[in-house]
Amino acid sequence: MYFAPRMDELKPSDIREVMKIIAAKPGTISFAGGLPAPELFPSEDLREVVNGLLNDKAGQALQYGATLGYQPLREKVAKLMEREGVKATADNIIITAGSQQGLSLSGMLFLDKDDVIIAESPSYLGALSAFKPTESQVVSVACDGGGMLMDDLERVLAETPNARMIYVIPNFQNPTGKTWTMERRQKLIELANKYDLPVIEDNAYGELRYEGERIPSIASIDTEGRVVHLGSFSKILAPGLRVGWISASPELILKFELLKYGADLQPNELVEMMIDGYLGSFSLDEHLKKIKAEYKARRDLMIDVIRNEFPTEAKWYYPEGGMFVWIELPERINTRELLKKAVDKGVAFIPGGSFYPNGGIEYAFRINFSNMKSDKIVQGMKILAELLREELK
Ligand SMILES: Cc1ncc(COP(=O)(O)O)c(C=O)c1O
Repeated sequence: MYFAPRMDELKPSDIREVMKIIAAKPGTISFAGGLPAPELFPSEDLREVVNGLLNDKAGQALQYGATLGYQPLREKVAKLMEREGVKATADNIIITAGSQQGLSLSGMLFLDKDDVIIAESPSYLGALSAFKPTESQVVSVACDGGGMLMDDLERVLAETPNARMIYVIPNFQNPTGKTWTMERRQKLIELANKYDLPVIEDNAYGELRYEGERIPSIASIDTEGRVVHLGSFSKILAPGLRVGWISASPELILKFELLKYGADLQPNELVEMMIDGYLGSFSLDEHLKKIKAEYKARRDLMIDVIRNEFPTEAKWYYPEGGMFVWIELPERINTRELLKKAVDKGVAFIPGGSFYPNGGIEYAFRINFSNMKSDKIVQGMKILAELLREELK
């Protein structure tokens, strides 16, 4: 059978492969996936809302709806964008199947065969997979603890006439947990204006800040309508709902509407109405307070073991929020090999090399702190610490 050439580009993600290894070994303490804590999902509240909807509004909730999304939810999401310093109305919002669909639609909107996406190095694997079917290429820009290095970005922009968009995760990045400084955000907008490029600002983790001040979003300093800001209910309510949004200029939203219509007609009406009902009847802020307190405690436990028990050659970044800690080891340690030994001892992580689209360092790894309960975090981190001490002897 003939397959389109784009299929040659697609291969299973390394994360899925690690997940398979873990699934084959029940009881593994997994710091691998980027999963929220299931015990913190607001299941009772959602049940109440969905029961009410099916009792009173089933005709609407189970019917076809608008491609742009359920209007009251778009209005509430527009209000949420105020937290990001963005003045939005429903006209600036389209509801998507998670922020992942926002990535995929952005790829369709801006990219063609052999075009270039400029992204952080390392970056979120799932985004790179979302862009892949366009047969475009990724060019990576070096980063430090404050985001992309602007000199490197300028160099790449000057050398890449077929660059078509810049993709960044400025808050508590996946995989590194790093957050961009305000200066870098400003400079990014200056350069995007100069080169007339759209910026995809992926803000999947923005609400999960455990300390320090919120830094204004890149969308909030955009004066030319070139930022496509992606938000999501996945990390703040539950990822299985598959509801996120794109916030952008009304002109761009209408283009996204055309693409979404072709992709899946509309969001899931019942789930949109459920989230809308939840936001109307319950306090998102109270819920956020609860999950942030728990995630902060889990992060602190993880960091305590790293500080006190990891060999000093292990360098790590302190995340002020999000779900991940990124660790870099001396170059002689290959973390894909290390993972096999860790899994034998009952612990899993994601090797860092997986997050570089064009190959990158093989001596780093990412660990997640949101999913495992405290006792497992301590137990798993102590096992990792011992393994690292052995390896680095
Ligand atoms: C940086 C980033 N962007 C987007 C997503 C996609 O999330 P969702 O589609 O569930 O909103 C993830 C998921 O882990 C992520 O880490």
